[in-house]
Amino acid sequence: MVRLGIDIGGSGIKGALVDTSTGEMVSERHRIPTPSSRSPLAMTETIALLIEHFNYQGAVGCGFPTIVKNGICTSPGNLSPSWVGVDIKALFTHRTSCDFTIINDADAAGFASIQELNEEQKKGLVLMITVGTGLGSGAFFNGQLIPNFELGQIPYKEYTKIETWAASSAKDREGLSTRKWAKRFNRFLEVIELITAPNLILVGGGISKNWENFKKYITIETQIEASELKNQAGIIGAAIASVNSIN
Ligand code: BGC
Repeated sequence: MVRLGIDIGGSGIKGALVDTSTGEMVSERHRIPTPSSRSPLAMTETIALLIEHFNYQGAVGCGFPTIVKNGICTSPGNLSPSWVGVDIKALFTHRTSCDFTIINDADAAGFASIQELNEEQKKGLVLMITVGTGLGSGAFFNGQLIPNFELGQIPYKEYTKIETWAASSAKDREGLSTRKWAKRFNRFLEVIELITAPNLILVGGGISKNWENFKKYITIETQIEASELKNQAGIIGAAIASVNSIN
């Protein structure tokens, strides 16, 4: 079955058609910059443009960069605070006449990435960490999703949330060298390793494309690797979620 998968991020809204039985993208990825207001109105119009680009009708799976409960946004993440309380599913479905399934973006990326693991690797706690505007985390215990695990929200130093200090947006905002920023990301990994004692950590987002060069900065004990799907995982996982209810 072919479904449209959408991955909404703080800087880009990306979509592609996905064959949900093979988990492979069957179209080019299309990306539209996230409107700078990151507001419900502006972002809904961008979603409509993306659907129009693919000339798509039907069910859509969409990863959304906030806590999502039953299709409703319950925390702003790095979007406009006016998202809180919005029924995202109803809003996008109403605007586009496509039936939307909405899940947290890191949960979607993890859901696709975990399908690439063998049974042994799925055992215990596996964390999917997505690195971008924020730090997303998808948690899977023995292959089962624990939705809305928000490790990027841990307070750190003077920051109300560690993602403000350690996400890749901090590198851009503060003009940090890769080494300086990698040390921060490594510190984030140390903190989550201490708190959750995971068996395996998978990394997605921009750095997963350059993981071979990046991993020298990482010193945690836990096994850590780039997701095989790199930063396509969010699109693929969202499309699959629209077929299999995953939370
Ligand atoms: C949000 C998470 C999201 C992450 C990555 C954070 O600000 O709280 O829900 O997964 O950003 O987009």
